Amino acid sequence: MNEKQNYYFEKLSLGTCYYPEHWEESFWQTDLRRMKENGIGTVRIAEFAWSKFEERENEFSFQFFDKFMETAAKEDMRVIFCTPTATPPAWLTEKYPEVLNARKDGVLIRHGMRRHYNYNSPVYRQFAARITEKLGEHYGQHPNIVGWQLDNEFNCETDVFYSESDSIAFRVFLREKYGTLQELNRAWGTVFWNQTYTDWEEIFVPRVTYSDSANPHLLLDYYRFISASTLSFCRLQADILRRYVKPGDFITTNGIFENMDNHKMEKESLDIYMYDSYPNFAFGMNRDPKHAEDLNDRKWSRNLTEARSICRHFGIMEQQSGADGCVHSLCAPSPKPGQMTLWALQSAAHGADYVSFFRWRTCRFGTEMYWNGILDYSSRDNRRLEEVRSLYEKFRRLEPVTGSEFLADVAQLKDYDNLWDAKVDRMHARLNEISDNGIFRAAQLTHTPLDYVYLQADTELADLTKYRVLFYPHPVILTQERAALLRRYVEQGGTLVFGCRTGYKDENGICVGELLPGKVRELTGADVYEYTVLGPGDDPVCIDAGGETMKAEYFCDLIRPLEDGIAAGTYLSDYYRGQTAMTCRRLGGGTVIYYGSTFPCGTAMALLKRLGAAEPWRGRIQVPAECELVVREDRSGSRYFFVLNYTKSVQTVSLGCEMTDCFEEKPASGNVSLEPYEVKVFRY
Ligand code: GAL
Repeated sequence: MNEKQNYYFEKLSLGTCYYPEHWEESFWQTDLRRMKENGIGTVRIAEFAWSKFEERENEFSFQFFDKFMETAAKEDMRVIFCTPTATPPAWLTEKYPEVLNARKDGVLIRHGMRRHYNYNSPVYRQFAARITEKLGEHYGQHPNIVGWQLDNEFNCETDVFYSESDSIAFRVFLREKYGTLQELNRAWGTVFWNQTYTDWEEIFVPRVTYSDSANPHLLLDYYRFISASTLSFCRLQADILRRYVKPGDFITTNGIFENMDNHKMEKESLDIYMYDSYPNFAFGMNRDPKHAEDLNDRKWSRNLTEARSICRHFGIMEQQSGADGCVHSLCAPSPKPGQMTLWALQSAAHGADYVSFFRWRTCRFGTEMYWNGILDYSSRDNRRLEEVRSLYEKFRRLEPVTGSEFLADVAQLKDYDNLWDAKVDRMHARLNEISDNGIFRAAQLTHTPLDYVYLQADTELADLTKYRVLFYPHPVILTQERAALLRRYVEQGGTLVFGCRTGYKDENGICVGELLPGKVRELTGADVYEYTVLGPGDDPVCIDAGGETMKAEYFCDLIRPLEDGIAAGTYLSDYYRGQTAMTCRRLGGGTVIYYGSTFPCGTAMALLKRLGAAEPWRGRIQVPAECELVVREDRSGSRYFFVLNYTKSVQTVSLGCEMTDCFEEKPASGNVSLEPYEVKVFRY
């Protein structure tokens, strides 16, 4: 039995997703050779190929993939093998319909797409365990295999489950959590609107109700339950495979989706995390132009920041290589020359040491026939394959960046209780939307590298003291333990910034009766004595923060500084004109700021500047707002400044000292131009 490990790639490398079952056997060898000639050394296979192993119930055959593995061995190609549980076969779902997911109204989700199963069906768990076991047994020791992918994109397609098995498992989950119905009724406030339960059998996962709205405390537990179900299904497979895989081979899965604690999943089941990066979604034709954001594909850096929060040195299992489009949705344009490289280097800059393109060749049939791979249907040479080849050369030059640290002094704190509460509570969701966008955008435009840190049961002080400034925008749910940890961070010299609505709910999502902001009232030195949403009819509200004007968006907390707190900002209008909008408290070596509203970009930028955290690299390199700057540091102390030009025009950076242009391998100084979509990396 292999132990769970932390897996690291030895050097930046390229891969691709390959589907032997989509092509005639005569293609395989030519394809693999051509991949290798162009710098691709790893393929991922078999994630949707269950019927190739078990064509009928309990009739196993490995011939097809054995043959492919022979070709892979001949061509010295590394392989990531997958469990095929994202697409159960038709024979299985027809004979055992209880394995299917259902809509809220009970209608079953049928065969014909993918991910139509539910995690809690004992029958599906048995079938999934058996196919995993068979594949582990048969392929576990294969010398060309380097790693295993579990399933494919847990919680993609859907992240809600309403089958009968889910309700049964939900009851077990709740019994374990609450012990008695009396306790559950209390935790869910079921006395409201006469929702009291008198038998466990009366409890279900959410069902059809008016306004599509269920008891909010039940919903919060439901999201926790979905997460637990997903993690348990993933763990089931990981535990089986660990008995068979070769020492040193990794177990992973791909994508980051909602309603699951990705961090916990990585900790308990995976050796490395892999993300799937599709920045071209930003240019999809079915996006609403009203909501088009100017960060576009650059916004994918936010997802990559999420990936880095799970696993600092991760992989990209699927990286955009062509236009996207399914037959049931409109298509996006083909990546412009340079964009494919830009997006792959965006991944590498943020911490990916392995980048695998989706997919080698566009499929000629099926739902995704417009989801382009590197090659088009005909296989002819094209500019995308050329980009792969030249990216390989770039990766060679960036080898020392492998495993190097992403440098950031500022982080945003997050946690799953609050993420899930925001799924239940529209007001909380709106606050997060404004502040998450605002903080990310402000950090991007001021070239202030940003990390996300998820507060978890095992988060330690050292995980926080790495950062000089922490934003915890709207921790609506805030426990005593978290408040104590944050206090220690401040005492050690950190700067902590809270936004409005901090601390007004308990872990069940019930509003606290304490004075606000609840568990951090004393820590912040702020007394929130009144609050209001800003309605569409309200005039805009501004805050004077020591000579600087900030806009209060969506929400206002009215504050009185407590004895240790100092007023640091004042409302300029409405009935609260002159009242405190922001407080500041010094404690030990650190500072706590309570800002009574949200953090749109302008506010976040002003705060970053005021705290001396904005543009930390300005002395070394000046980058226009249109480009992203990422800074990495290797073990020898060399720093790598990645500058990514997402625009279609030439951009100019200015170097504050002589550096080395890593791709050109020559000195660079003064003003340096970047072509449209170009990436440059400077070493210093
Ligand atoms: C991912 C998925 C792939 C493919 C790709 C393009 O979500 O893992 O199988 O569907 O998107 O749509």
